[in-house]
Amino acid sequence: MGDDRATAPRKTAPTKTVFIKTYGCQMNVYDSERMADVLRPFGYGVTDAPEGADLVVLNTCHIRERATEKVYTELGHLKRMKQRKAQAGGRMMIAVAGCVAQAEGVQIRHRQPAVDLVVGPQAYHQLPELIARAHRASGEKLSADFSPQDKFDALPKERGVTGVSAFLTVQEGCDKFCTFCVVPYTRGAEWSRPAADIEAEARVLADKGVREVTLLGQNVNAYDGLEGGLAALVRRLARIDGIDRIRYTTSHQRDMDDALIAAHGELPELMPYLHLPVQAGSDRILKAMNRAHTADSYLRLVEKIRVARPDMALSGDFIVGFPNEREADFEATLNLVRAVNYASAFTFKYSRRPGTPASAMPGQLSDAVKDERLARLNALVQEQQAAFNTATEGATLPVLIEKIGRLPGQIVGRSPYLQPVHCEGPASLIGKIVPVTILTGQRGSLAGKLEVGRLEMETA
Ligand code: SAH
Ligand code: SF4
Ligand code: F3S
Repeated sequence: MGDDRATAPRKTAPTKTVFIKTYGCQMNVYDSERMADVLRPFGYGVTDAPEGADLVVLNTCHIRERATEKVYTELGHLKRMKQRKAQAGGRMMIAVAGCVAQAEGVQIRHRQPAVDLVVGPQAYHQLPELIARAHRASGEKLSADFSPQDKFDALPKERGVTGVSAFLTVQEGCDKFCTFCVVPYTRGAEWSRPAADIEAEARVLADKGVREVTLLGQNVNAYDGLEGGLAALVRRLARIDGIDRIRYTTSHQRDMDDALIAAHGELPELMPYLHLPVQAGSDRILKAMNRAHTADSYLRLVEKIRVARPDMALSGDFIVGFPNEREADFEATLNLVRAVNYASAFTFKYSRRPGTPASAMPGQLSDAVKDERLARLNALVQEQQAAFNTATEGATLPVLIEKIGRLPGQIVGRSPYLQPVHCEGPASLIGKIVPVTILTGQRGSLAGKLEVGRLEMETA
Protein backbone atom coordinates (compact mmCIF):
# COMPACT_ATOMS: atom_id res chain seq x y z
CA MET A 1 0.00 0.00 0.00
CA GLY A 2 2.87 2.35 0.98
CA ASP A 3 3.83 3.70 -2.45
CA ASP A 4 0.28 4.41 -3.40
CA ARG A 5 -0.58 6.34 -0.29
CA ALA A 6 -1.43 9.86 -1.31
CA THR A 7 0.01 12.53 0.95
CA ALA A 8 -1.89 15.76 1.33
CA PRO A 9 0.02 18.81 0.20
CA ARG A 10 -0.28 21.91 2.36
CA LYS A 11 -2.95 24.44 1.51
CA THR A 12 -3.00 24.99 -2.22
CA ALA A 13 -5.42 26.61 -4.64
CA PRO A 14 -7.61 24.02 -6.39
CA THR A 15 -5.98 22.66 -9.53
CA LYS A 16 -8.48 19.92 -10.28
CA THR A 17 -12.23 19.77 -10.29
CA VAL A 18 -14.61 17.30 -8.70
CA PHE A 19 -18.34 17.04 -9.34
CA ILE A 20 -20.29 15.20 -6.65
CA LYS A 21 -23.87 14.15 -7.25
CA THR A 22 -25.87 13.03 -4.23
CA TYR A 23 -28.79 10.61 -4.17
CA GLY A 24 -30.77 9.31 -1.20
CA CYS A 25 -30.98 10.44 2.38
CA GLN A 26 -29.41 13.25 4.41
CA MET A 27 -26.66 10.91 5.52
CA ASN A 28 -25.49 10.87 1.93
CA VAL A 29 -25.67 14.67 1.83
CA TYR A 30 -23.38 14.76 4.85
CA ASP A 31 -21.05 12.16 3.30
CA SER A 32 -20.83 14.16 0.05
CA GLU A 33 -19.78 17.25 1.99
CA ARG A 34 -17.16 15.22 3.78
CA MET A 35 -15.88 13.77 0.49
CA ALA A 36 -15.34 17.32 -0.70
CA ASP A 37 -13.49 18.01 2.60
CA VAL A 38 -11.30 14.93 2.05
CA LEU A 39 -10.42 15.88 -1.53
CA ARG A 40 -9.85 19.60 -0.96
CA PRO A 41 -6.31 19.24 0.47
CA PHE A 42 -5.41 17.24 -2.65
CA GLY A 43 -6.21 20.15 -4.91
CA TYR A 44 -9.79 19.28 -5.84
CA GLY A 45 -12.24 22.15 -5.99
CA VAL A 46 -15.96 21.37 -6.22
CA THR A 47 -17.63 22.23 -9.51
CA ASP A 48 -21.37 22.30 -10.15
CA ALA A 49 -21.37 20.55 -13.54
CA PRO A 50 -19.93 17.16 -14.50
CA GLU A 51 -18.84 18.07 -18.06
CA GLY A 52 -15.08 18.35 -18.14
CA ALA A 53 -14.56 17.57 -14.44
CA ASP A 54 -11.43 15.63 -13.47
CA LEU A 55 -13.39 13.49 -11.05
CA VAL A 56 -17.10 12.72 -10.89
CA VAL A 57 -18.45 11.03 -7.79
CA LEU A 58 -21.95 9.59 -7.70
CA ASN A 59 -22.95 9.17 -4.07
CA THR A 60 -25.67 6.62 -4.53
CA CYS A 61 -28.79 5.26 -2.86
CA HIS A 62 -30.00 1.66 -2.98
CA ILE A 63 -33.24 1.99 -1.05
CA ARG A 64 -35.67 1.47 -3.93
CA GLU A 65 -35.17 -0.03 -7.37
CA ARG A 66 -35.68 3.31 -9.05
CA ALA A 67 -32.96 4.91 -6.92
CA THR A 68 -30.48 2.29 -8.10
CA GLU A 69 -31.53 2.45 -11.74
CA LYS A 70 -31.07 6.24 -11.79
CA VAL A 71 -27.41 5.67 -11.04
CA TYR A 72 -26.91 3.46 -14.08
CA THR A 73 -28.68 5.96 -16.33
CA GLU A 74 -26.41 8.71 -15.05
CA LEU A 75 -23.37 6.50 -15.56
CA GLY A 76 -24.38 6.16 -19.22
CA HIS A 77 -24.27 9.97 -19.60
CA LEU A 78 -20.98 10.17 -17.76
CA LYS A 79 -19.42 7.53 -19.98
CA ARG A 80 -20.00 9.78 -22.99
CA MET A 81 -18.58 12.80 -21.15
CA LYS A 82 -15.56 10.75 -20.24
CA GLN A 83 -15.09 9.78 -23.91
CA ARG A 84 -15.38 13.43 -25.02
CA LYS A 85 -12.77 14.45 -22.49
CA ALA A 86 -10.46 11.63 -23.57
CA GLN A 87 -10.79 12.71 -27.22
CA ALA A 88 -9.68 16.18 -26.13
CA GLY A 89 -6.67 14.59 -24.44
CA GLY A 90 -7.97 14.83 -20.90
CA ARG A 91 -9.04 12.33 -18.26
CA MET A 92 -12.23 12.10 -16.29
CA MET A 93 -12.41 9.62 -13.46
CA ILE A 94 -15.72 8.19 -12.42
CA ALA A 95 -16.27 6.99 -8.87
CA VAL A 96 -19.38 5.32 -7.49
CA ALA A 97 -19.78 5.85 -3.74
CA GLY A 98 -22.56 5.22 -1.24
CA CYS A 99 -25.06 2.44 -0.80
CA VAL A 100 -25.13 1.01 -4.35
CA ALA A 101 -21.34 0.77 -4.11
CA GLN A 102 -21.71 -1.17 -0.88
CA ALA A 103 -24.47 -3.44 -2.15
CA GLU A 104 -23.19 -4.21 -5.64
CA GLY A 105 -19.44 -3.69 -5.29
CA VAL A 106 -17.35 -4.60 -8.32
CA GLN A 107 -20.45 -5.75 -10.22
CA ILE A 108 -20.97 -2.08 -10.98
CA ARG A 109 -17.85 -2.13 -13.12
CA HIS A 110 -19.09 -5.15 -15.00
CA ARG A 111 -22.31 -3.37 -15.85
CA GLN A 112 -20.59 -0.06 -16.61
CA PRO A 113 -16.86 -0.44 -17.36
CA ALA A 114 -16.40 3.34 -17.55
CA VAL A 115 -16.43 3.34 -13.74
CA ASP A 116 -12.91 3.71 -12.35
CA LEU A 117 -13.57 3.09 -8.70
CA VAL A 118 -16.15 1.92 -6.26
CA VAL A 119 -16.06 3.14 -2.69
CA GLY A 120 -18.51 2.19 0.07
CA PRO A 121 -19.99 4.50 2.72
CA GLN A 122 -17.35 3.55 5.30
CA ALA A 123 -14.35 3.99 3.05
CA TYR A 124 -14.59 7.36 1.32
CA HIS A 125 -11.86 8.81 3.53
CA GLN A 126 -9.58 6.65 1.35
CA LEU A 127 -10.67 8.44 -1.83
CA PRO A 128 -7.36 10.21 -2.48
CA GLU A 129 -5.49 6.95 -2.15
CA LEU A 130 -7.98 5.05 -4.30
CA ILE A 131 -7.74 7.74 -6.96
CA ALA A 132 -3.97 7.51 -6.92
CA ARG A 133 -4.19 3.75 -7.31
CA ALA A 134 -6.75 3.91 -10.09
CA HIS A 135 -4.53 6.41 -11.91
CA ARG A 136 -1.92 3.69 -12.06
CA ALA A 137 -4.64 1.46 -13.48
CA SER A 138 -3.72 -1.27 -11.09
CA GLY A 139 -4.55 -2.65 -7.71
CA GLU A 140 -7.79 -2.93 -5.87
CA LYS A 141 -10.84 -1.14 -7.20
CA LEU A 142 -13.20 -1.79 -4.35
CA SER A 143 -13.11 -0.37 -0.91
CA ALA A 144 -16.31 -1.15 0.84
CA ASP A 145 -15.51 -2.46 4.28
CA PHE A 146 -17.28 -1.50 7.50
CA SER A 147 -15.37 0.50 10.03
CA PRO A 148 -17.03 3.82 10.75
CA GLN A 149 -14.50 4.74 13.45
CA ASP A 150 -11.56 4.56 11.02
CA LYS A 151 -13.42 6.78 8.63
CA PHE A 152 -14.31 9.44 11.18
CA ASP A 153 -10.76 9.40 12.58
CA ALA A 154 -9.35 9.97 9.11
CA LEU A 155 -11.68 12.75 8.07
CA PRO A 156 -10.28 16.27 8.21
CA LYS A 157 -11.36 18.32 11.24
CA GLU A 158 -12.09 21.19 8.91
CA ARG A 159 -15.52 21.46 7.32
CA GLY A 160 -16.22 23.45 4.20
CA VAL A 161 -19.74 24.47 5.23
CA THR A 162 -21.07 27.86 4.24
CA GLY A 163 -24.68 27.88 5.42
CA VAL A 164 -26.32 28.56 8.78
CA SER A 165 -27.72 25.06 9.06
CA ALA A 166 -25.59 21.92 8.85
CA PHE A 167 -25.83 18.15 9.09
CA LEU A 168 -23.73 16.24 11.58
CA THR A 169 -23.59 12.44 11.50
CA VAL A 170 -23.66 10.95 15.01
CA GLN A 171 -24.77 7.38 14.37
CA GLU A 172 -24.64 4.96 11.48
CA GLY A 173 -26.14 1.66 10.54
CA CYS A 174 -29.13 -0.37 11.53
CA ASP A 175 -29.80 -3.56 13.50
CA LYS A 176 -33.56 -3.55 13.02
CA PHE A 177 -33.80 -5.58 9.81
CA CYS A 178 -37.20 -4.49 8.59
CA THR A 179 -38.00 -7.13 5.99
CA PHE A 180 -38.26 -4.64 3.09
CA CYS A 181 -35.07 -2.67 3.71
CA VAL A 182 -31.48 -2.77 2.43
CA VAL A 183 -29.98 -0.35 4.95
CA PRO A 184 -28.73 -2.99 7.44
CA TYR A 185 -26.79 -4.51 4.51
CA THR A 186 -25.48 -1.28 2.97
CA ARG A 187 -24.65 0.60 6.16
CA GLY A 188 -23.80 -2.22 8.54
CA ALA A 189 -24.51 -2.56 12.25
CA GLU A 190 -25.57 0.26 14.55
CA TRP A 191 -22.60 2.30 15.62
CA SER A 192 -22.33 5.56 17.57
CA ARG A 193 -19.65 8.20 17.23
CA PRO A 194 -17.90 9.24 20.45
CA ALA A 195 -19.59 12.29 21.97
CA ALA A 196 -16.34 14.24 22.26
CA ASP A 197 -15.76 13.98 18.49
CA ILE A 198 -19.28 15.13 17.78
CA GLU A 199 -18.95 18.04 20.17
CA ALA A 200 -15.66 19.07 18.55
CA GLU A 201 -17.27 19.00 15.11
CA ALA A 202 -20.25 21.01 16.36
CA ARG A 203 -17.84 23.65 17.72
CA VAL A 204 -16.12 23.87 14.33
CA LEU A 205 -19.52 24.37 12.74
CA ALA A 206 -20.54 27.03 15.29
CA ASP A 207 -17.28 28.90 14.66
CA LYS A 208 -18.17 28.94 10.95
CA GLY A 209 -21.50 30.60 11.66
CA VAL A 210 -23.74 27.54 11.82
CA ARG A 211 -26.73 28.16 14.11
CA GLU A 212 -28.65 24.94 13.55
CA VAL A 213 -27.39 21.37 13.49
CA THR A 214 -29.34 18.34 12.39
CA LEU A 215 -27.93 15.21 13.97
CA LEU A 216 -28.04 12.32 11.55
CA GLY A 217 -28.25 8.58 11.84
CA GLN A 218 -30.17 5.77 10.17
CA ASN A 219 -31.41 5.15 13.71
CA VAL A 220 -30.30 8.38 15.30
CA ASN A 221 -32.08 7.89 18.60
CA ALA A 222 -30.33 4.54 19.08
CA TYR A 223 -27.29 6.76 19.80
CA ASP A 224 -25.32 5.28 22.70
CA GLY A 225 -21.95 7.00 22.47
CA LEU A 226 -22.68 8.68 25.77
CA GLU A 227 -24.37 7.66 29.02
CA GLY A 228 -27.94 8.85 28.65
CA GLY A 229 -28.07 8.38 24.90
CA LEU A 230 -29.24 10.94 22.39
CA ALA A 231 -30.97 13.06 25.04
CA ALA A 232 -27.65 13.52 26.85
CA LEU A 233 -25.88 14.33 23.59
CA VAL A 234 -28.46 16.94 22.66
CA ARG A 235 -28.14 18.57 26.09
CA ARG A 236 -24.39 18.71 25.67
CA LEU A 237 -24.57 20.27 22.21
CA ALA A 238 -27.24 22.76 23.32
CA ARG A 239 -24.62 24.32 25.62
CA ILE A 240 -22.35 25.27 22.72
CA ASP A 241 -22.34 28.99 22.09
CA GLY A 242 -23.90 29.76 18.73
CA ILE A 243 -25.81 26.50 18.35
CA ASP A 244 -29.40 27.64 18.92
CA ARG A 245 -31.34 24.96 17.12
CA ILE A 246 -30.95 21.20 17.23
CA ARG A 247 -32.82 18.64 15.17
CA TYR A 248 -32.26 14.94 14.64
CA THR A 249 -33.35 12.37 12.09
CA THR A 250 -34.33 9.53 11.51
CA SER A 251 -35.80 8.13 14.69
CA HIS A 252 -37.09 4.68 15.34
CA GLN A 253 -40.03 4.14 17.63
CA ARG A 254 -38.17 1.49 19.65
CA ASP A 255 -35.45 3.96 20.67
CA MET A 256 -37.70 6.88 21.55
CA ASP A 257 -36.97 6.80 25.29
CA ASP A 258 -38.45 8.86 28.11
CA ALA A 259 -35.30 10.95 28.49
CA LEU A 260 -35.51 12.08 24.87
CA ILE A 261 -39.21 12.83 25.15
CA ALA A 262 -38.55 14.83 28.32
CA ALA A 263 -35.79 16.78 26.56
CA HIS A 264 -38.36 17.95 24.02
CA GLY A 265 -40.36 19.51 26.82
CA GLU A 266 -37.36 21.09 28.52
CA LEU A 267 -34.81 22.21 25.95
CA PRO A 268 -35.72 25.29 23.93
CA GLU A 269 -32.92 24.42 21.48
CA LEU A 270 -34.58 21.15 20.54
CA MET A 271 -36.95 21.97 17.71
CA PRO A 272 -40.58 20.77 17.80
CA TYR A 273 -40.38 18.63 14.68
CA LEU A 274 -39.98 14.89 14.77
CA HIS A 275 -39.61 12.45 11.91
CA LEU A 276 -40.96 9.19 13.29
CA PRO A 277 -41.69 6.69 10.53
CA VAL A 278 -44.36 4.09 11.15
CA GLN A 279 -44.55 2.58 7.61
CA ALA A 280 -48.05 1.12 7.93
CA GLY A 281 -51.16 1.13 10.09
CA SER A 282 -52.08 -2.56 9.97
CA ASP A 283 -50.63 -4.74 12.72
CA ARG A 284 -50.57 -7.72 10.38
CA ILE A 285 -48.42 -5.82 7.90
CA LEU A 286 -46.27 -4.26 10.63
CA LYS A 287 -45.53 -7.75 11.88
CA ALA A 288 -44.61 -8.98 8.40
CA MET A 289 -42.39 -5.91 8.08
CA ASN A 290 -40.67 -6.85 11.37
CA ARG A 291 -41.30 -3.36 12.71
CA ALA A 292 -41.74 -4.61 16.30
CA HIS A 293 -44.51 -2.15 17.07
CA THR A 294 -48.25 -1.99 16.59
CA ALA A 295 -50.39 0.85 15.32
CA ASP A 296 -51.67 1.30 18.85
CA SER A 297 -48.22 1.44 20.48
CA TYR A 298 -47.20 4.04 17.89
CA LEU A 299 -50.27 6.16 18.65
CA ARG A 300 -49.61 5.91 22.38
CA LEU A 301 -46.05 7.06 21.82
CA VAL A 302 -47.23 10.02 19.76
CA GLU A 303 -49.63 10.88 22.57
CA LYS A 304 -46.80 10.86 25.11
CA ILE A 305 -44.62 13.05 22.92
CA ARG A 306 -47.43 15.55 22.53
CA VAL A 307 -47.89 15.72 26.27
CA ALA A 308 -44.23 16.73 26.60
CA ARG A 309 -44.37 19.10 23.64
CA PRO A 310 -47.95 19.93 22.64
CA ASP A 311 -46.99 21.77 19.45
CA MET A 312 -44.80 18.93 18.14
CA ALA A 313 -44.98 18.64 14.34
CA LEU A 314 -44.77 15.02 13.28
CA SER A 315 -43.65 13.56 10.01
CA GLY A 316 -43.42 9.98 8.87
CA ASP A 317 -42.55 7.50 6.16
CA PHE A 318 -45.12 5.15 4.67
CA ILE A 319 -44.90 2.18 2.38
CA VAL A 320 -47.95 1.16 0.39
CA GLY A 321 -48.34 -2.15 -1.40
CA PHE A 322 -46.19 -4.31 0.87
CA PRO A 323 -46.64 -8.01 -0.07
CA ASN A 324 -50.09 -9.26 0.88
CA GLU A 325 -51.40 -5.84 1.86
CA ARG A 326 -55.19 -6.05 1.58
CA GLU A 327 -57.55 -3.15 1.12
CA ALA A 328 -58.44 -3.34 4.82
CA ASP A 329 -54.75 -3.15 5.77
CA PHE A 330 -54.31 -0.10 3.62
CA GLU A 331 -57.36 1.52 5.18
CA ALA A 332 -55.78 0.95 8.57
CA THR A 333 -52.84 3.03 7.32
CA LEU A 334 -55.22 5.83 6.30
CA ASN A 335 -56.85 5.64 9.74
CA LEU A 336 -53.54 5.88 11.50
CA VAL A 337 -52.63 8.94 9.40
CA ARG A 338 -55.96 10.52 10.34
CA ALA A 339 -55.36 9.79 14.02
CA VAL A 340 -51.86 11.30 14.07
CA ASN A 341 -52.41 14.33 11.85
CA TYR A 342 -49.01 14.76 10.24
CA ALA A 343 -47.28 18.03 9.37
CA SER A 344 -45.62 16.23 6.47
CA ALA A 345 -45.05 12.71 5.27
CA PHE A 346 -42.98 10.74 2.77
CA THR A 347 -44.88 8.06 0.93
CA PHE A 348 -43.41 5.20 -1.09
CA LYS A 349 -44.59 2.33 -3.21
CA TYR A 350 -43.13 -0.91 -1.93
CA SER A 351 -40.07 -1.78 -4.01
CA ARG A 352 -38.71 -5.32 -4.11
CA ARG A 353 -35.08 -5.23 -3.08
CA PRO A 354 -32.85 -8.20 -3.92
CA GLY A 355 -31.77 -10.14 -0.86
CA THR A 356 -34.39 -8.77 1.52
CA PRO A 357 -36.89 -11.20 3.11
CA ALA A 358 -39.96 -9.33 1.79
CA SER A 359 -38.78 -9.68 -1.79
CA ALA A 360 -39.30 -13.44 -1.49
CA MET A 361 -42.72 -13.22 0.16
CA PRO A 362 -45.77 -14.45 -1.71
CA GLY A 363 -48.54 -11.97 -2.50
CA GLN A 364 -46.49 -9.34 -4.33
CA LEU A 365 -48.90 -6.67 -5.55
CA SER A 366 -49.27 -5.15 -8.98
CA ASP A 367 -48.08 -1.66 -9.78
CA ALA A 368 -51.66 -0.63 -10.50
CA VAL A 369 -52.75 -1.47 -6.94
CA LYS A 370 -49.73 0.30 -5.49
CA ASP A 371 -50.34 3.39 -7.62
CA GLU A 372 -53.96 3.61 -6.62
CA ARG A 373 -53.17 3.32 -2.90
CA LEU A 374 -50.31 5.76 -3.16
CA ALA A 375 -52.59 8.36 -4.76
CA ARG A 376 -55.15 8.00 -1.97
CA LEU A 377 -52.53 8.24 0.74
CA ASN A 378 -50.91 11.24 -0.93
CA ALA A 379 -54.22 13.07 -1.14
CA LEU A 380 -54.68 12.60 2.60
CA VAL A 381 -51.18 13.65 3.66
CA GLN A 382 -51.28 16.68 1.36
CA GLU A 383 -54.54 17.75 2.95
CA GLN A 384 -52.95 17.42 6.39
CA GLN A 385 -49.84 19.30 5.40
CA ALA A 386 -51.92 22.15 3.96
CA ALA A 387 -54.01 22.28 7.15
CA PHE A 388 -50.89 22.32 9.29
CA ASN A 389 -49.45 25.22 7.32
CA THR A 390 -52.66 27.26 7.22
CA ALA A 391 -53.00 26.85 10.98
CA THR A 392 -49.86 28.97 11.41
CA GLU A 393 -51.47 31.97 9.67
CA GLY A 394 -51.53 34.93 12.03
CA ALA A 395 -48.92 33.45 14.35
CA THR A 396 -45.55 35.10 14.90
CA LEU A 397 -42.83 32.46 14.58
CA PRO A 398 -39.10 32.65 15.24
CA VAL A 399 -37.54 32.09 11.81
CA LEU A 400 -33.88 31.25 11.26
CA ILE A 401 -32.97 33.18 8.12
CA GLU A 402 -30.84 31.01 5.81
CA LYS A 403 -30.45 32.82 2.50
CA ILE A 404 -31.79 35.43 0.12
CA GLY A 405 -34.94 34.50 -1.77
CA ARG A 406 -35.76 34.30 -5.45
CA LEU A 407 -37.43 37.72 -5.55
CA PRO A 408 -35.50 40.95 -4.95
CA GLY A 409 -35.51 42.00 -1.29
CA GLN A 410 -36.74 38.60 -0.16
CA ILE A 411 -35.13 36.46 2.52
CA VAL A 412 -35.93 32.84 3.37
CA GLY A 413 -35.59 30.72 6.45
CA ARG A 414 -37.22 27.98 8.46
CA SER A 415 -39.80 27.97 11.22
CA PRO A 416 -39.26 25.74 14.28
CA TYR A 417 -41.53 23.25 12.50
CA LEU A 418 -39.15 23.08 9.53
CA GLN A 419 -41.50 24.98 7.23
CA PRO A 420 -39.79 27.23 4.68
CA VAL A 421 -40.79 30.85 5.35
CA HIS A 422 -40.15 33.83 3.10
CA CYS A 423 -40.54 37.53 3.86
CA GLU A 424 -39.09 40.87 2.84
CA GLY A 425 -35.97 41.84 4.70
CA PRO A 426 -32.28 42.71 4.45
CA ALA A 427 -29.65 40.07 3.68
CA SER A 428 -27.89 41.16 6.89
CA LEU A 429 -30.42 39.03 8.77
CA ILE A 430 -29.00 35.80 7.34
CA GLY A 431 -27.95 33.66 10.31
CA LYS A 432 -30.30 35.44 12.69
CA ILE A 433 -33.48 34.16 14.32
CA VAL A 434 -36.14 36.79 13.72
CA PRO A 435 -39.88 37.12 14.43
CA VAL A 436 -42.05 36.72 11.35
CA THR A 437 -45.83 36.93 11.33
CA ILE A 438 -47.27 34.37 8.93
CA LEU A 439 -49.65 35.86 6.37
CA THR A 440 -50.39 32.87 4.17
CA GLY A 441 -49.49 29.24 4.57
CA GLN A 442 -49.55 27.43 1.26
CA ARG A 443 -48.76 23.77 1.07
CA GLY A 444 -45.08 24.08 0.30
CA SER A 445 -44.06 27.25 2.11
CA LEU A 446 -45.20 30.14 4.25
CA ALA A 447 -45.24 33.84 3.35
CA GLY A 448 -44.76 36.24 6.23
CA LYS A 449 -43.98 39.74 7.41
CA LEU A 450 -40.87 40.54 9.39
CA GLU A 451 -41.70 42.10 12.76
CA VAL A 452 -39.03 44.77 12.61
CA GLY A 453 -40.08 46.25 15.95
CA ARG A 454 -39.59 42.94 17.71
CA LEU A 455 -36.17 41.94 16.46
CA GLU A 456 -35.10 41.59 20.11
CA MET A 457 -36.55 38.04 19.91
CA GLU A 458 -33.17 37.30 18.35
CA THR A 459 -31.39 35.26 20.98
CA ALA A 460 -27.71 35.76 20.27
N1 SAH B 1 -34.21 4.15 9.35
C1 SAH B 1 -35.34 4.80 8.85
C2 SAH B 1 -35.59 4.65 7.38
C3 SAH B 1 -34.53 4.68 6.38
S1 SAH B 1 -35.04 4.34 4.74
C4 SAH B 1 -36.54 4.25 9.56
O1 SAH B 1 -36.60 3.09 9.88
O2 SAH B 1 -37.45 4.98 9.73
C5 SAH B 1 -36.20 5.61 4.41
C6 SAH B 1 -37.56 5.12 4.05
O3 SAH B 1 -37.55 4.46 2.81
C7 SAH B 1 -38.16 4.12 5.00
O4 SAH B 1 -38.69 4.70 6.14
C8 SAH B 1 -39.20 3.46 4.15
O5 SAH B 1 -40.43 4.13 4.25
C9 SAH B 1 -38.65 3.60 2.73
N2 SAH B 1 -38.22 2.30 2.21
C10 SAH B 1 -37.21 1.52 2.65
N3 SAH B 1 -37.14 0.39 1.91
C11 SAH B 1 -38.14 0.45 1.00
C12 SAH B 1 -38.61 -0.43 -0.01
N4 SAH B 1 -38.04 -1.61 -0.24
N5 SAH B 1 -39.64 -0.02 -0.78
C13 SAH B 1 -40.24 1.17 -0.55
N6 SAH B 1 -39.86 2.02 0.40
C14 SAH B 1 -38.82 1.67 1.18
FE1 SF4 C 1 -34.43 0.13 7.22
FE2 SF4 C 1 -35.99 -0.61 9.23
FE3 SF4 C 1 -33.45 -0.05 9.67
FE4 SF4 C 1 -35.12 1.89 9.07
S1 SF4 C 1 -35.20 0.62 10.92
S2 SF4 C 1 -33.09 1.58 8.22
S3 SF4 C 1 -36.48 0.91 7.64
S4 SF4 C 1 -34.22 -1.75 8.47
FE1 F3S D 1 -30.36 5.35 0.43
FE2 F3S D 1 -28.30 4.44 1.71
FE3 F3S D 1 -29.61 6.52 2.64
S1 F3S D 1 -29.79 3.22 0.67
S2 F3S D 1 -31.67 6.14 1.96
S3 F3S D 1 -28.49 6.45 0.77
S4 F3S D 1 -28.70 4.89 3.81
